[in-house]
Amino acid sequence: MILPIVAYGHPTLRKVAENIDKDYPELDNLISDMWETMYAANGIGLAAPQVNRSIRLFVVDATVYKDEYPEAADFKKIFINAIIEEELGEEVVLGEGCLSLPGLHEDVSRKPMLRIRYLDEKFDEHIESYDGFLARVIQHEYDHIEGVLYVDRISAFRRMLLKGKLRDISNGDIDVDYRMIFPNLKRKLK
Ligand code: NI
Repeated sequence: MILPIVAYGHPTLRKVAENIDKDYPELDNLISDMWETMYAANGIGLAAPQVNRSIRLFVVDATVYKDEYPEAADFKKIFINAIIEEELGEEVVLGEGCLSLPGLHEDVSRKPMLRIRYLDEKFDEHIESYDGFLARVIQHEYDHIEGVLYVDRISAFRRMLLKGKLRDISNGDIDVDYRMIFPNLKRKLK
């Protein structure tokens, strides 16, 4: 089932999400709905807060980027209760977008390497290191479970320039081809 994606301004995007355990109700269904929702919106990552669940779960499928980034070729993963234990290196600038902020794409500066500890869908623990593009995708999704959005990481000046666009997004005053929940909807949805 395709779930609506919450738009910028929604309070769930701002919460630090909670850990879950194996008994979390209908987790398999939620994960399969998140995949379906992400693919329908042409995303490469989706975090549970974006479907209005404040839990530490995100999914990533970066395989469409395999030509640009060979390391993405088999990178399809589910991250539960993730903790980024370390980020390393000189910050690198790379463009980012987000399904909760349709129409925006901004350069974001982040450290290029990380080590992450997480559980997979069987609740087996993994500790892995990533760099480059895959680290970037993980950092973006990880931010979501920490209540952070990439626009928090751009310059105050740039954010000021985007103020109108951000307001349009939370008001639902945008064209978007997937289902969304707008926190400050002013108009009737078509
Ligand atoms: Ni995002």
